[in-house]
Amino acid sequence: MSPRERVMIFDTTLRDGELSPGCSMAQPEKLRIARALAELGVDVIEAGFPAASRGDWESVNAVAREVQGPVICGLARCQRDDIDLAAQALAPAARRRIHVYLPTTIHREQKLNMTHAEILRTAVDSVKRARELCDDVEFSPEDASRTGLDFLTQVVEQVIEAGATTVNIPDTVGYTVPDEFAELFRYLRKNVRGIDNVRLSVHCHDDLGMAVANSLTAVVAGARQIECTINGIGERAGNCSLEEVVMALRTRAAFFNLDTKIDTTRLYPTSRMLANIVGLPIPRNKAIVGENAFVHDSGIHQPGTLKHASSYEIMRPQDVGLSRTSLVLGKHSGRHALQERVRELGFDLDEVEFARVLEEFKLLADKKKELYDGDIEALVLQAEHSAAGPWTLQNLRTSFDSAKSAEATVRLSHADGRSIEMRSTGDGPVDAALKAIERATGVDVVLRKFEVRSVSAGEDAQGEALVYVEYNQRTYRGSSVSTNIVESATQAFLEVINRIELASATLARTGTQRVAKAVI
Ligand code: KIV
Ligand code: ZN
Repeated sequence: MSPRERVMIFDTTLRDGELSPGCSMAQPEKLRIARALAELGVDVIEAGFPAASRGDWESVNAVAREVQGPVICGLARCQRDDIDLAAQALAPAARRRIHVYLPTTIHREQKLNMTHAEILRTAVDSVKRARELCDDVEFSPEDASRTGLDFLTQVVEQVIEAGATTVNIPDTVGYTVPDEFAELFRYLRKNVRGIDNVRLSVHCHDDLGMAVANSLTAVVAGARQIECTINGIGERAGNCSLEEVVMALRTRAAFFNLDTKIDTTRLYPTSRMLANIVGLPIPRNKAIVGENAFVHDSGIHQPGTLKHASSYEIMRPQDVGLSRTSLVLGKHSGRHALQERVRELGFDLDEVEFARVLEEFKLLADKKKELYDGDIEALVLQAEHSAAGPWTLQNLRTSFDSAKSAEATVRLSHADGRSIEMRSTGDGPVDAALKAIERATGVDVVLRKFEVRSVSAGEDAQGEALVYVEYNQRTYRGSSVSTNIVESATQAFLEVINRIELASATLARTGTQRVAKAVI
């Protein structure tokens, strides 16, 4: 068998993934994710769209400055200002790439009011401009899978001539199917002059649930870069899921004969970290990283699994960094046992972070007899994204009598020194506490979604609350974990208020609004 060729993994969690409703991230969160992606071993991090807003420019610039290893990429429309802004934001990166894109389908063309000739000229000029500023330039004909073959061939041929080093073929609306998509790649490889001089890339959306299958079939047909996101987050139904496509290539290596340089043992921790940061829980039955992905419950499978793990398990949990055990920690477990467990769960904390987790662990162990992996994860993730400020909950009191409405009193402190106590009534203790917070902070929001789920087992299991609200036409979310669900809901809501206050401060400072991807 010939030596394995490598497929590059291009992660776009911070750019396309961030377009998931309610998934926008602040700069420190983006940096944490970018560092985790570098540790995971992705080849390229698409860190954002610098021309979208001042905040996006700053985030891309911060990743370019602070994250070593992968190529750092910035997206740009085919406009000179966008390209120049991307180049400036990426300047500090040791290895950088400018990714320019242009819609090439007919209906887009009508929307853009451009003729075929104008699209071709714009694409070529933009690639040339990007090449003046950067040696590594990727071009994407947006909606390529629905673009006429002749025109697509012309576009790809001309951008290659203009200096593109990677050509990406997006299935922007998740419309294609595997056989058809493979055929498109074969056609391009056969008919486009110069195609062997560039890296062919694939970028799939999951509207029909085929993003991973379509990406894999493109790879079989010659693509050597896959664009994907952690947990498959992205606009609408999302993008190709990184963990699924990587584990498919690895588990079926004999079929694909291709390697990636992903450290698969980092998949589970990275997935958990992202889910926690964006507040988008992973479905229990999600392939690779879902809670049930390695659980064999059926009476038929279980005896086989116990005797020969390989009879039903096509992957081992530890291959994806899931070293779950039923081992529980408790009040008397020492610092060392906790440190070991944290490490086994894939987290690499510095002394300060670990001290914070240890402190919270002791508090929780006083309230809860047994602490499971889910509890430890929740503590670590909570400690990592605490300190969001400026509001902090000092005290919460609630009372509930089924004959009357519930009552809550909150005492909040603000980083500027204010301390406010406020009482409110509501339809239940959670409703009363959220109303009291709204009145105390003066921020009036529309609650869109409120969910509570248990993060571990047992009667005293911790509950994770997720809150989504709408404020000034934007969605904000917050999450928090506690053994008391009224407290976790209150803390999650306060996180939302803090995000709104931070976002308003950034807006006041930069005076910019984000531009949507498809606004041309
Ligand atoms: O889906 C898409 O077409 C994109 C491009 C910008 C690559 O995200
Ligand atoms: Zn996309």
